[in-house]
Amino acid sequence: MKSLLLIALLPLQALGAEVNPRIHTQYKTALSGVLSNLKPNGAVIASPSTSAPNYYYDWVRDTGLTMRALIRIAYDKRTDSTLRSKLLEQIQKWIQWEFSRQEQNRLTGLGEPRFYVDGRVNEEPWGRPQNDGPAIRALTAMEVAEQWLKEGRLKEVNRLLYAPSLPAQTLIKRDLEYVAHHWKEKSFDLWEEEQALHYYTLLSQKTALLKGAAFARRLGDSGASRFYASAAGEIENLLQQFKDPYSGVIPYAIEKSPGLPHKKSILDISVILALIHNFDGSFAAPADSALMTLKELMRVFRIKYPVNHVIRNKSGEALGVALGRYPEDIYDGVGFSGGNPWFISTLAAAEFACDLSRSRAGKKRDALNEIALAQFNRVIHHLDEEGSMSEQFNRENGFQQGARDLTWSYVSYLTAYRACFL
Ligand code: NOJ
Ligand code: NOJ
Repeated sequence: MKSLLLIALLPLQALGAEVNPRIHTQYKTALSGVLSNLKPNGAVIASPSTSAPNYYYDWVRDTGLTMRALIRIAYDKRTDSTLRSKLLEQIQKWIQWEFSRQEQNRLTGLGEPRFYVDGRVNEEPWGRPQNDGPAIRALTAMEVAEQWLKEGRLKEVNRLLYAPSLPAQTLIKRDLEYVAHHWKEKSFDLWEEEQALHYYTLLSQKTALLKGAAFARRLGDSGASRFYASAAGEIENLLQQFKDPYSGVIPYAIEKSPGLPHKKSILDISVILALIHNFDGSFAAPADSALMTLKELMRVFRIKYPVNHVIRNKSGEALGVALGRYPEDIYDGVGFSGGNPWFISTLAAAEFACDLSRSRAGKKRDALNEIALAQFNRVIHHLDEEGSMSEQFNRENGFQQGARDLTWSYVSYLTAYRACFL
């Protein structure tokens, strides 16, 4: 704990503000929350909730993002050795888990979004394919591969993660081939609701192919490297179309078919999620349009969700804006009585602000840090004593609802905290 608190004195402290100690202790709670949702066979459950809603599945997306966060923690020099070995063991199991589930090749193949925890694909009617999954998984697995190569484990990389041979027989290669051949096709978004070309999916695909191109070259697969790089270039051209000349906002999708009839605006937090999930020291979009997108989301949700009418906690600290997925959302976590703020959205704003503040100085930097801190205060404000985090919290009374102990909620706390305080 001591080291956490010391480290916590870094960037946000520049504000001169006294940070609520709960912000720091919640990091440990979030980490335990994630660890409790890992399975011995390498699977990650989205939530332990088995009914109303049943989230007792492994979603490729949630798991890819979760393991990416855990990989970064495992290979962080500051992580203590007990935790590190536990994580390294899980990473190894996770590789095996992904490797085997890729082989199922049912329904939409690698675009399948959701599996039972025993590894069978879930074949119930669902929004499929969801093509962000393979891109996210490839990006995460490449982080493991980089580490293994550093450790001289080339043989294992070749056996499990990447070998040039076609048809692909390794984890990363299979995903990259899938992404390179399918990115032009519409698929369901990360919210599993609409078929379209989505900013979130395309940006994840572009990043995966770009990193994949460099990675393939390194492993002597130069033909594939050129193929991935050229597809990444084409995606980049397509992403240039994601512009709204009137508002400056980055629209979350183009070419919807069929779109949700009630989802009329172009605003969606998935654009901010795309930017932070693919952040590598800089954002994939110009900072002014990214900021405009976040500002608009904040403006709309501040009015829309009554919890946002309370703007200070009992200690007088500023509470940021509780953010949902998109303004017209009606999914309440179980049914469709109306949308609510989500932890992943509210924390995405904090992470975005901290990512951006690193490249800013003076007043601009302070302003961004202040936004981030307020977002953390908002999240803390809606926690119970144990610090559990479900999917959503009620737009009117602020109490948590939807799937309990949602892995992704905890993960978003970890990544936002690390962006802001470590
Ligand atoms: C469950 C999905 O996971 C959620 O994102 C969606 O809003 C609802 N189903 C409705 O499709
Ligand atoms: C619903 C969310 O919309 C989706 O993004 C997520 O993958 C699943 N829940 C599982 O957490």
